[in-house]
Amino acid sequence: MKLRIVSVVGARPNFMKLAPVDRELAKRGDVEHVIVHTGQHYDPEMSAAFFEELWIPAPDYHLGVGSGSHASQTAAVMQRLEPVLTQTRPDVVLVYGDVNSTVAAALVAAKLGVRVGHVEAGLRSGDWTMPEEINRVVTDRLAALLFIPSREAGHNLLAEGVPSDRMHFVGNVMIDSLCWALSRAVERNAAAQRGLSDRGYVVATLHRPSNVDDPATLETLLDALHCLSRDLPVVFPVHPRAKQRLCDAGLTPGRNGGDLRLIEPVGYVEMLSLVASAALVITDSGGLQEETTFLGVPCLTVRPNTERPITCVHGTNRLVPPRRDALLGAAGRAMERRPPVRPMIERWDGRAAERIARVLCEDECFEVEAVDQVSDNARELSELQDRAPGQLRRAAMFATKEVLT
Ligand code: UD1
Repeated sequence: MKLRIVSVVGARPNFMKLAPVDRELAKRGDVEHVIVHTGQHYDPEMSAAFFEELWIPAPDYHLGVGSGSHASQTAAVMQRLEPVLTQTRPDVVLVYGDVNSTVAAALVAAKLGVRVGHVEAGLRSGDWTMPEEINRVVTDRLAALLFIPSREAGHNLLAEGVPSDRMHFVGNVMIDSLCWALSRAVERNAAAQRGLSDRGYVVATLHRPSNVDDPATLETLLDALHCLSRDLPVVFPVHPRAKQRLCDAGLTPGRNGGDLRLIEPVGYVEMLSLVASAALVITDSGGLQEETTFLGVPCLTVRPNTERPITCVHGTNRLVPPRRDALLGAAGRAMERRPPVRPMIERWDGRAAERIARVLCEDECFEVEAVDQVSDNARELSELQDRAPGQLRRAAMFATKEVLT
């Protein structure tokens, strides 16, 4: 009998994670892969465009939940998904990332006694004001299979008492999609099409409530981007949430000599093309922190914390507060210290989805080390600290430095 796997996705960052998993499962004759789209994101450029570009088949079910408060959106996904799962009776439900659709689907599946697999498990910002953090913690608690993108994600789970046999260190599915699309993105040469030169512009994306919901913060950020655009053009694909907030606050980009371009959200390949050739990325997105690290493009994340500290310690990412001077200073420094080679992160190698399929279909294990090995690592780290305190302190400070300035 075929293994029946249902993937539930709903919002833009889910689609890039689903695509490589779907491609891997499609290669296997012994799996039936059913795709459910909750409809959390519904604008064509936030949803359908990604299915097309990433070669994801049309969803088998579309729940059409749309926008709403967190409670109503989560509840709508739960109510509409339950009959689908009751009817399809899957062996496993796969959920992705940290959006409201993720936690809603995990709750429904777990209560129906269906095994939940969480792709991109174990990330923690420690920031409970972020809805995504609540979604991550609850989803991980409900999941029987935790697919970990990095060792530190496994260590977060071990610290919460999750048994290591539930975790599989498979790597990062976002990077699978990136590797798959990179040659097309380079060919697309989106920068040249917009009259921009290689490494001669900045890409900005901001949509988190902490940055766009308060008009004063949003104005400060827009002002900083405008100021930066006097030196380098800034391309800002505007998320619908940010667009709404800009409109509500009556904000438009300033005109005094800058080149700040507010454009509609762009597709996956075009965005990758723009990011790959950028001098700098300014963002509050999770995925872009990872993509810029993989590509070696300097990145400033406008947040006080990140659930992806590996991108600060080993990658090109730095945190920065939503203040004009801090942002402008950090932008200059980030571009000056662009790494000569791309950082290498363990298992960010384009094969994470293949490992997920091997876990699901062949019962393979990709172990995260047990707790005593984690404490061995901690011991090694403290020994290293004695030997090279400056070096380690610098690594740790990467994550917080810009916040402190
Ligand atoms: C969601 C995720 C966030 C992710 C982001 C990526 C949660 C809690 N948040 O945030 O983690 O980084 O997606 O995009 O799930 N809207 C449209 N058209 C759309 C989708 C949204 O106009 O296709 C507008 C609506 O006004 C909606 C608002 O954007 O109310 C917010 O959408 P929602 O899906 O609730 O959350 P995001 O801010 O997109």
